Amino acid sequence: MTEHYAPGLEGVIAGETAISTVEGGLRYRGYAVEELAAESTFIEVAYLLLKGELPTQEDLADFEAVLDESVDSAVEICDLLSQIPVHTPVMDVMRTGISIAAHYDPHAEDDHDHADADLNKALHLMGVIPLILAFWHRHTQGLELGEPDPERSYAANLLSLITGKVPTSLEEKAMDVSLILYAEHEFNASTFTARVVTSTGSDLYSAIVAAVGALKGPLHGGANEQVMAVLEEIGSADRAEAWIRNALAQKRRVMGFGHRVYKDCDPRAVYLKDYCGQLAERRGRLELEQRAEIIEQIVWNEKKLPPNLDWPSARLYHYLGLDVPIYTPLFVVSRVVGWSAHVIEQSRDNRLIRPRSRYIGAEPRAYVPLSERD
Ligand code: ACO
Repeated sequence: MTEHYAPGLEGVIAGETAISTVEGGLRYRGYAVEELAAESTFIEVAYLLLKGELPTQEDLADFEAVLDESVDSAVEICDLLSQIPVHTPVMDVMRTGISIAAHYDPHAEDDHDHADADLNKALHLMGVIPLILAFWHRHTQGLELGEPDPERSYAANLLSLITGKVPTSLEEKAMDVSLILYAEHEFNASTFTARVVTSTGSDLYSAIVAAVGALKGPLHGGANEQVMAVLEEIGSADRAEAWIRNALAQKRRVMGFGHRVYKDCDPRAVYLKDYCGQLAERRGRLELEQRAEIIEQIVWNEKKLPPNLDWPSARLYHYLGLDVPIYTPLFVVSRVVGWSAHVIEQSRDNRLIRPRSRYIGAEPRAYVPLSERD
């Protein structure tokens, strides 16, 4: 067998999926993500990703009813979370909260073969994750957590649980679009992590906890928080050009740019930028858009690197009045759908994921007893 080694598995086809593709633009189950973002809602998209087809109105009502049932268990989860030191990073709390959520799912032990077992676990997580995030965020500020309003959309509830304020229709739509765009992205690092865990026969909760760990890193989901740090460090539009030229000269990695697959354009970033513009105008923050535009132009001209989704997301969340430490956790709120769809797909046609490594260590050598070592 010829040995083929691809560091970072770059370009390697590591499995098959019917959930999404990035070939010829991003599509979820065949639908262009731009069309879903314009016409659909995050809950419809979640149904599509998890079940394969867009829902009828009746399907959607049943789906939302199962989702609502999980909200009650959030009280016990948040009670346990309140024991954690308040300075704990939010992504670590998300990881712990999801692990605790498993203990409050009466069906946690149902295995992959059990009808709808993984779908119900995914819905349980979609119900409790926004509450875990909102609870923790408010708890660390000494604020009480409100209750979700079943009459409101998922995005509106998410925003109002976190901020304590009812969002405007533009804010609600912007958050919904961001959730849709973050929901799924084929074999990215965290999704692949979830599939590896599933391939051993382990359960959905374990796969999602592992995926959260993978998402946390600054080369993946953690980038959206770093982006805001960059924009703040730059300070103003008139300093942007000097800052970025200096950063590139120092071979600094500019967070929010570049992608393993998209080399010319990340379509999600293009789509979300428009919402950044609309929100910036409402907030009187067009100067921040100019700052970002200057960076974009220079990084493209000098390095041919396009912005990825994390680049506009950071500004979008900023305009929505959200604090930086919850930006990556917001990615979890959305991506749990894609991860769960992959857990379901992997377990339906499973083969243990176990690649080989190329050995570069010591030549064979004899063992020296401890007493004879220098
Ligand atoms: N800033 C500056 N230079 C960069 C950047 C960047 N953001 N990204 C890539 N490059 C350069 C590298 O230095 C390298 O240059 P060289 O050939 O002169 O050494 C070249 O582009 C190729 O970079 P790699 O790291 O090999 O490309 P890879 O496919 O592994 O990178 C990655 C993908 C990790 C996303 C990278 O672009 C990066 O680190 N970006 C910043 C972090 C980020 O924004 N992550 C979010 C990813 S998208 C998401 O999770 C939603």
